[in-house]
Amino acid sequence: MRGQFITLEGSEGAGKSTNVDSVCATLDNAGIRYLRTREPGGTPMAEALRESMLHKWEEQVDALAELLLVFAARAQHLTNVIEPALDRGQWVVCDRFTDASFAYQGYGRQLDLEKLETLESWVHGSLQPDLSLYLDLEPDIAEARIAEREKDRMEEEQRAFFIRVREGYLARAKQFERIVTINAGQPLAAVQADVCTAINRFIEDSTVRAGRDV
Ligand code: TMP
Repeated sequence: MRGQFITLEGSEGAGKSTNVDSVCATLDNAGIRYLRTREPGGTPMAEALRESMLHKWEEQVDALAELLLVFAARAQHLTNVIEPALDRGQWVVCDRFTDASFAYQGYGRQLDLEKLETLESWVHGSLQPDLSLYLDLEPDIAEARIAEREKDRMEEEQRAFFIRVREGYLARAKQFERIVTINAGQPLAAVQADVCTAINRFIEDSTVRAGRDV
């Protein structure tokens, strides 16, 4: 049986890493075998592309170049890691995926969404996450949370950029049923409880689906 594909999304400061831990702990409790990975990244070459993408270059980074870098990394990641794991029956937990390209490059950089859709179908055909958790946070709270951090090129963007990124995520959450929005402005324990509930519900539903398929 093919594995299930779960992604986590959210802007910087939304507590994504901690909540990826919660997703994994919930899968561990349920005895589900999974692979944890991230985007951009997840293979040696894709991690090198990530470094290049986040690096603070002394030249202007072209928005299209940025988009192509994340999709190049994604092609490598899908072929060498994600698809083989799903084919083996392992579940995949991925910290960000193509929703991030729509939010950051589509809405944030204001690139043509049709171009993104073309790239999306070129790079991953009909493959989509089975479940995506979007950790939603007001940009000013997010900004305060990352104020003390050493920032990469993306984190140095202005608030207007992150307002558009959030609009992008919210628009996608409205459009796709697979995206579950979680209020990341709550205390961490409450966010983790919501994440755990969403994952347990998904496990239950996928058990029902699997039962129907037998
Ligand atoms: P991270 O900080 O969550 O690891 O994500 C790395 C950065 O890359 C983050 O600022 C979001 C950005 N990003 C894009 O701009 N487009 C993408 O498609 C992905 C996956 C990430």
